Amino acid sequence: MEPILLTRPGSADPQPLADYQGEGGYEALSAAVKRLPEHLLSTIERSGLRGRGGAGFPVGQKWRLAASEAETQKYVVANGGEDEPGSAKDRVLMESYPHRVLEGVILAAYAIGAHEAVLYVNSLYDHATAMLDRAITEASAAGFLGARVAGSAFNLAVRIQSAPQEYVAGEDSAVLEVIEGGPPLPREKPPFPTSAGLHGKPTVVNNIETFAFIPTIVRRGPDWFRGQGTADNPGTMLFTLPSNVRSPGVVELPIGISLRVLIEDYGGGLASGKAIKAVLPGGPSSAFIGGTDLDVAMDRQPLAALGSALGCGILRIIEAGECLVEVVDGIAHFFQKESCGQCPICQMETQALARITAQVRDGQGSQQMLDQIPKLGAFARGKGFCGLISMPIPPLTSAIRLFPEDFAYHIEHGHCPASEG
Ligand SMILES: Cc1cc2nc3c(=O)[nH]c(=O)nc-3n(C[C@H](O)[C@H](O)[C@H](O)COP(=O)(O)O)c2cc1C
Repeated sequence: MEPILLTRPGSADPQPLADYQGEGGYEALSAAVKRLPEHLLSTIERSGLRGRGGAGFPVGQKWRLAASEAETQKYVVANGGEDEPGSAKDRVLMESYPHRVLEGVILAAYAIGAHEAVLYVNSLYDHATAMLDRAITEASAAGFLGARVAGSAFNLAVRIQSAPQEYVAGEDSAVLEVIEGGPPLPREKPPFPTSAGLHGKPTVVNNIETFAFIPTIVRRGPDWFRGQGTADNPGTMLFTLPSNVRSPGVVELPIGISLRVLIEDYGGGLASGKAIKAVLPGGPSSAFIGGTDLDVAMDRQPLAALGSALGCGILRIIEAGECLVEVVDGIAHFFQKESCGQCPICQMETQALARITAQVRDGQGSQQMLDQIPKLGAFARGKGFCGLISMPIPPLTSAIRLFPEDFAYHIEHGHCPASEG
């Protein structure tokens, strides 16, 4: 496997400009600005790259939408809000590979015709902010940013915006609200940011990891990129292994790798040596995969066939002996806390779900209450301004389906089987 992003294994130091250029850094930009943006757009389209911020939307398609808008003022935003529990992949890229991220952003701006770009960075990430800031200064001094980028007629200004510590502040339209000086509240869609984004102008918002792939795809070509990963979802991806495996952290592997290989070969298996009861393969809004389905390929379609999702590749592993009631109660309360309150139906739904899981947890629940969960989800689906409204349902319904005995025990006894004795 050939790493595309984490090209310096074992080193967490920020990659200096000279070192990045030694790997071919900024060659893609220097070549791209000598050709029409159309060439760049079609390269990204042909690569099949999908966004790494969770939804997996085709990057070329998003850029094409923004590029085809007649408006002359356009923007690019790199989303490093990263408030997903357990996620650190964007921080790793911003801290250790700031020039790779920056070159991806500059290329995106050239492709769509933007002259301003914003790096939106989690406000806890002081080091990442400092490294990006230094990269902006270095790239400007080297002529890759500012007026006449790489000797062309293209101009670009890049600045950093601090992102609030709220989960919903990473949702793309809430990101735009924050950059405009408002609170992190999602906007009603349509219009989508590609037609009316920052200050009402066409805007591309992509995840930090998504941008980091761009320079190498442009330099080595879309066919090379398609040599790893799957036909529907080419390339590698950053997977985040949780703290209960022997080697936790961020690893770059081809999309389509088996969940078992990811956990056992790259994570070293569970540190406790216990059996795996279940896995959330794609963050807190994905559905649980049972311990008997670990050979599933980590890709959108195979995971969807099991009712789950790839998300941002943030794994959570539930060990034998852990109780799913406690786990989903934590998840339901997380989404209740993070619902911004702007859409009454989302607030109502997430509060009701958290109430049900708490009552079941405390032995005051019933099977009838659990049966309400999919109904609440179906009623609320698509009725909020953002996707948060649908997020708590997959983990809850999958846990109830896979581990009914955990829920039945709590309903009867008011505590976990694990806590007995
Ligand atoms: C509640 C919520 C939180 C989100 N948080 C993030 C985030 O922290 N980072 C991110 O890149 N995308 C996040 N997203 C997804 C963004 O809305 C958007 O789809 C993404 O930035 C697009 O980038 P991509 O196409 O490169 O994946 C979030 C979405 C929702 C609904």
